[in-house]
Amino acid sequence: MLSEFLDTSDEWITTRTGIKTRHILTDERFEDLATEASARAIEAAGLCPDDIDYIICSNVSNYYVTPHLASIIQGGLGIKGPNCPTMDINVACVGFVYGLDICDALLATGRAHNILLVAAEECTRFCDWTDRNCSVLFGDGAGAVVLTQGDNLLARHMTSTPMRDVIVYRNPMEPTPFETGEGIDTHHALEMKGREVFRMAVTSASRDISQVVADAGLTFDDIDYFLLHQANLRINEAIRENLKQPEEKFPTNVQRFGNTSSAAIPLLLDEGVREGRIKRGDLLLMSAFGAGFVTGTAIVRY
Ligand code: UT7
Repeated sequence: MLSEFLDTSDEWITTRTGIKTRHILTDERFEDLATEASARAIEAAGLCPDDIDYIICSNVSNYYVTPHLASIIQGGLGIKGPNCPTMDINVACVGFVYGLDICDALLATGRAHNILLVAAEECTRFCDWTDRNCSVLFGDGAGAVVLTQGDNLLARHMTSTPMRDVIVYRNPMEPTPFETGEGIDTHHALEMKGREVFRMAVTSASRDISQVVADAGLTFDDIDYFLLHQANLRINEAIRENLKQPEEKFPTNVQRFGNTSSAAIPLLLDEGVREGRIKRGDLLLMSAFGAGFVTGTAIVRY
């Protein structure tokens, strides 16, 4: 389909990225996708919406600058409030892993008991569909979990290195009557230095994974599954080769969903659990990288 209006081919996309299909929102509403993932997570946790006492949503896709998506999801779930704080976090593709870290702090201090952590993205809206560098990569998706008090987040490592230009998407903006317009860039599509991101992703993930595994007093062999951000099969393959771990410990779904930004890891987790592959007690290592440049890695006992 893409090769009908872009200078690209199925062969290029498959061999360079692994992607075969993606899901694109058309006449569905983005907020409904996010709410549905949330409802399914609450059901899977054996809870009802009113048991949730905090909602955190990772996204860069909300239709509104304000109100934030977590509050829209709260409404969609029928949680009346006011005793369920909500907030969004914007850490691009790493939002789910950063969210785990924030939830852990809220749970550890007793400020929340059942937190809904949702990651929802409509990445296909950011693409310039005449730009083959980006538009062949991204898909839409949402994933969610419910986190409760415990000691199953064994180690984490979050990083941030200011590099504005590697992946950039500007807020739609027009000059006010008081401005000349100088310095306001009205270009509204995602831009990315793909090769640079590729290189940094492999290096930083290999480094961060080694660090969290050591911090937890474990070895790579102790990890049951490595749930890596799904941007490009070749990136994950290079990380896997650095870690010298078997392929079956690295579930992937970028082939079917493309890059869904922060939704990628919870989508992987959901598939693994529902297919019965990931079981209670398994050690899961989650690792993501993205715009910023930001990385996040965590080890969780499921
Ligand atoms: O969530 C984080 C966000 N982003 C990422 O993780 C992206 C990380 N980067 C990547 O996944 C890869 O760098 C890309 C998939 C973006 C690009 O793959 P690559 O193997 O690094 O390709 P390249 O940029 O080195 O380009 C190789 C060639 C170039 O042509 P020449 O200069 O060799 O003639 C490109 O112009 O492929 C060309 N090209 C394409 N050809 C067909 C670039 N995009 C396309 C395309 N179809 N869609």
